[in-house]
Formats: sequence, C-alpha cells, structure tokens
Amino acid sequence: MPVEHLAIIMDGNGRWATERGLSRSDGHRAGAKQIARVVEAAREFGVKYMTVYAFSTENWKRPQDEVRVLMELIGEFSTRMLPDMMKNNVRLRTIGRTSDLPLLARTALLKAIDMTAKNDGFTLTIALSYGGRAEMIDAMNKMLSERKSDAPLTEDEFRNYLYAPDLPDPDLLIRTGGEMRISNFLLWQLSYSELYVTPVFWPDFDREDLKAALESFSSRDRRFGGLSDKK
Ligand code: IPE
Ligand code: IPE
Ligand code: MG
Repeated sequence: MPVEHLAIIMDGNGRWATERGLSRSDGHRAGAKQIARVVEAAREFGVKYMTVYAFSTENWKRPQDEVRVLMELIGEFSTRMLPDMMKNNVRLRTIGRTSDLPLLARTALLKAIDMTAKNDGFTLTIALSYGGRAEMIDAMNKMLSERKSDAPLTEDEFRNYLYAPDLPDPDLLIRTGGEMRISNFLLWQLSYSELYVTPVFWPDFDREDLKAALESFSSRDRRFGGLSDKK
C-alpha cells in the first residue's frame, strides 16, 4: 500500500539554527523554504495529501518575537507558494484555530486557499494554531450547538465535526528533529498511522530523507488490530 496521506511534524528549526550560530528566526525561515521542496518530492513519490504541523496551540507560549516571525513567515509562504501551487494543481487548506492568527497572515492564507480551491492533484494542509485536543473540543462544541438527533453518537458522525473530515487518516507520520512524541498533533486521526522519527532537523529534511521514510513505511505490516495478511 502506498502512502496516500503523509503527516509531518516539522521539528528542529531552532536547533538547526543554533548549530550554525544563527538565530531561531533564521531556522524558521529555512524551515519555511523546505516545505515547497518536500511537497515537490511527495508529489513525485505519488503522495496525494500532505498535512504539516507548522504552529501548535502551545507554540503561542514562545517569546513574542519568535511568534511574530512565524506569523510573518506564514503570510509570506502563502504568497510565495501560490504560483507554484497553481502550476502544479496543488490545493492549500488549513486546520486549526486560524482565527487566532494575525490579520496579515490570515488574508494571505485565505487568498491562497481561495485561488487553489479547485486544484485536485495534491492537497497541502497546514496545521496552524492547531492542537489535537482543541480540535476535539471544537468538534464537541460544534456538535452540541448543531446536532438535532439524540441517537447514540458514532465515530463516523463525530468525525464530521472535525476540521477536515473529508481527508483520509494519515498512513504515515514523520517527525523530524528526533523527539519521540506526538505533541498534540492529529490525536484522533493518527490512531493507526505508522510512525517514523528521524534525527534530521526539518530545514535539512530532503527528497532522500523522504524516500527513506516511505521505504520504511512500505515494509510495515499494518494490522489495524487484526491479524497479519502477510504469509
Ligand atoms: C519547529 O521547530 C517549528 C515550530 C514549532 C514552530 P522548533 O522551533 O520547535 O525547533 P526546535 O525543536 O527548538 O529545534
Ligand atoms: C511540535 O513541535 C509543533 C510543531 C512542529 C509545529 P514543538 O517543538 O512545539 O514540540 P515539543 O515542545 O518539543 O513537544
Ligand atoms: Mg521543537
């Protein structure tokens, strides 16, 4: 089975920069540039959906200057990527509490989301002010205000209240930067995703690293709680 949906925790920008005597902001700048390269490689390898963790609900705790640079980069990224996304039939989406983002970032994002809405070759979803717990709480609140039925809730119905219910669950989660944790990413959707952690920092994560991750995935035995169908 190929990877249809790839999720990535893009971690290690700060350490990448510190190692080079650069500022954390330089690390985030390099990290933002890397997204376009990894999208290109993912498309080449037949991936259809890629969801990247760019800013968590907890990342608001960081120093104000770092948050400001990250918000600027989000706006710049959307504007800079737009021509390529149009050329390559890539649709941009977001998940998260994006109304928390500053107006400038939101405006640039909305424009790119709007312009690429009909592209259907590849979907890049950026998780912004995203938390897995926040997503479930937002879903529950939405459900409490909209749901008419009093029938017992099913998983399929609950899923419909999540930020992007039409996306398939990720087949593979890659975390760069070496930490072996989920950090509040896609808690519902990652139930049966395969995990791949690499020590490579996000700004260095390239086509070859992605290839290695996809190769590792292809040798996994996904049982989903059942028994292996491999002999
Ligand atoms: C990931 O890199 C980007 C964000 C969380 C916004 P970090 O900034 O967490 O980099 P490290 O983990 O400190 O190296
Ligand atoms: C996870 O990285 C969030 C993103 C990559 C956006 P963090 O650097 O925030 O995670 P922790 O703090 O190491 O768990
Ligand atoms: Mg980090």
